[in-house]
Amino acid sequence: MAKLINGTKISNDIKNEIKEEVKELERIKGIKPGLGVILVGENPASKVYVSSKQKGCEEVGFLSDAIKMPETATEAEVLKQIEIYNNRKDIHGILVQLPLPSQIDKIKVLEAISPLKDVDGFHPVNIGKLVAQEDGFVPATPAGIIEMLKREGITIKGRNATMVGHSEIVGKPCALLLLNEWATVTVCHIETRDLKMHTLNAEILVVAVGKPYLIKEDMVKDGVVIIDVGINRITTDKASPELLSWRKSDFDVKGATLIGDVDFQKIEPKASAITPVPGGVGPMTIAMLLKNTLKSAKIFAQLK
Ligand code: GUN
Repeated sequence: MAKLINGTKISNDIKNEIKEEVKELERIKGIKPGLGVILVGENPASKVYVSSKQKGCEEVGFLSDAIKMPETATEAEVLKQIEIYNNRKDIHGILVQLPLPSQIDKIKVLEAISPLKDVDGFHPVNIGKLVAQEDGFVPATPAGIIEMLKREGITIKGRNATMVGHSEIVGKPCALLLLNEWATVTVCHIETRDLKMHTLNAEILVVAVGKPYLIKEDMVKDGVVIIDVGINRITTDKASPELLSWRKSDFDVKGATLIGDVDFQKIEPKASAITPVPGGVGPMTIAMLLKNTLKSAKIFAQLK
């Protein structure tokens, strides 16, 4: 039986640590960390993420400001809002929720955010700092993965780590972070010829693809540490009999359940540690975003 890595518990610990630091920052410097969020359009998942991020801000005592723009917003309008946040003294972190509607150039938008307020870590300056191992902002989900491994006492140094997925948000930065921690890193993607060969070699396997059951029992070795970043919503009509019985209460109440990219029920007995979905990596993303925003506020307050 694998140890379940409880992301909800770890993220609550981090939020409690942040709360204490916020009180101290207000006491010493009279500063409250502030996060500015820009949401363009009506993407339902983005709306949920943005409201969770705002709720997280409230929980730890941050100021949170959100601008909601219509699906038809122009690039110039988004750039104008970024400029306002760049200049606001009470905003220490800026986040533009992705994806953006097609008329807006994502690269232009991300590059308009001041690297000093880029708490998502997507600006090329911060990506460069990650490569060069300089202090900057690291994207929240991969930062959360490393934080989980460290807080669970899982060794990274010297181990074979396989990253499945090569996105800018998770796969690429996560591979770099694992490398910076001295893992031997393999990155797999859609053109990888023999995925199983690489997953079987993994002592730490991180999967961020968005495909349910991508990683099956025969693709991992005994004792593997599994970090499952996938969040896939399966409705009752699409669920297998095993899933219907395992997640019966979810299907009864919501008509759907959330599963990751790995076949959890079959792989869990082989793994030494595994993140569940939900309650694994998901909650860590918000905790690390808040941590980045606190870090920015501390730099602005000249405490770092
Ligand atoms: N869309 C999916 N994940 C993220 C994230 O971490 N940050 C932003 N800004 N958008 C996202």
